[in-house]
Amino acid sequence: MSQSPTYCLGIDTSCDETSIALLNDRTGEVLANVISSQIKVHAVHGGVVPELASREHAKNINIVFQKALDEAQISTEQISSIAVTTTPGLIGCLLVGLSFAKGLAYQLQVPLHEVNHLEGHLLSGFLDQTEFGIEPRQNEFPILGLVVSGGHTAFYQVESPEQIQILGQTVDDAAGEAFDKGGKLIGLDYPAGPQVDRHSKKGNNQAIPFKVARVKMGEQYLSFSGLKTAAYQYAQKNPNLSESQINDFCASLQSSIVDALIQKTEFFLNQGEYKAVLVSGGVAMNSELRERIQDNCQKLGIKCLIAKPQYCTDNAAMIAYASLLKAHKTDGLWDAKARATQKIQARTLPKK
Ligand code: KG4
Ligand code: ZN
Repeated sequence: MSQSPTYCLGIDTSCDETSIALLNDRTGEVLANVISSQIKVHAVHGGVVPELASREHAKNINIVFQKALDEAQISTEQISSIAVTTTPGLIGCLLVGLSFAKGLAYQLQVPLHEVNHLEGHLLSGFLDQTEFGIEPRQNEFPILGLVVSGGHTAFYQVESPEQIQILGQTVDDAAGEAFDKGGKLIGLDYPAGPQVDRHSKKGNNQAIPFKVARVKMGEQYLSFSGLKTAAYQYAQKNPNLSESQINDFCASLQSSIVDALIQKTEFFLNQGEYKAVLVSGGVAMNSELRERIQDNCQKLGIKCLIAKPQYCTDNAAMIAYASLLKAHKTDGLWDAKARATQKIQARTLPKK
């Protein structure tokens, strides 16, 4: 007799998107992935305002929950576990999601699992890629992971969904910030990343010699602050850019960010025997990055797993999925706590 399906409910309220998803807990199939974006609330301020973000989450979370149940066409009795982002993120925002998750888990008497938002992003590279389901094969590992978002830019050693270590990261701005702040200098609205991507298609990427500097601290680090200064100086010297100059500015900015990410990927690939590269996070939507990483992997003969566009920016499907992949052995955590900063163990690079 076949059992009727049950579902994992995912919740993410780490930044400026309230998201709730429902995934089949045996196959990983996504039945609903509702995202309520606050972009309009924050755009007038040029970036995310934490207090406003928490308030919006509190206002929307129940509506988003009901919408997810409607979309998936399931009832609350079919929810078998709840996965919630507890770190890293804006603390007030995380608390809204966690409090909601705890209340619901208590009411339904189902396990509550904590998920690190960055692990969610990272593992979303497997989500909905037909051959994976919720049991990636052991021979697919180790994988070099890259999370590029508005708040994070980091490389990871992925030995399995449960064994993830950080290899290197940016020492200042994230790649998404470099896109957003660079675009803002020439008058593009927040978040500027997608618009920079669009303008770049019509621009000359050699027009302005923007460069991402090397970091003295070590080859495993990245820095985008010098690029931001160069873009600022250019924008100061060249106010009132024409449409074609905007296109050239965007193409030059984008290429320098993507160059830096590609060079760093190559650096890490030279350090170990990787079976695949996994790329995710909001900036993984970038068309130039997607194309160049794919080309590079093809040349090297390794598998390239780039998150599907719908799972690149913040979403709860990736949180439920990470929880299912990690095959929790506990009954769930009633004492889960929200933490603003991340806790992923660092891995020291082997001396060459
Ligand atoms: O993952 P995400 O939703 O939020 C964080 O967790 O930070 O990523 C948002 C970031 C923003 O900085 C946005 O500008 C960037 O992803 N982004 C892009 C593109 N689409 C979104 N950056 C470059 N090109 C894109 N097509
Ligand atoms: Zn994110």
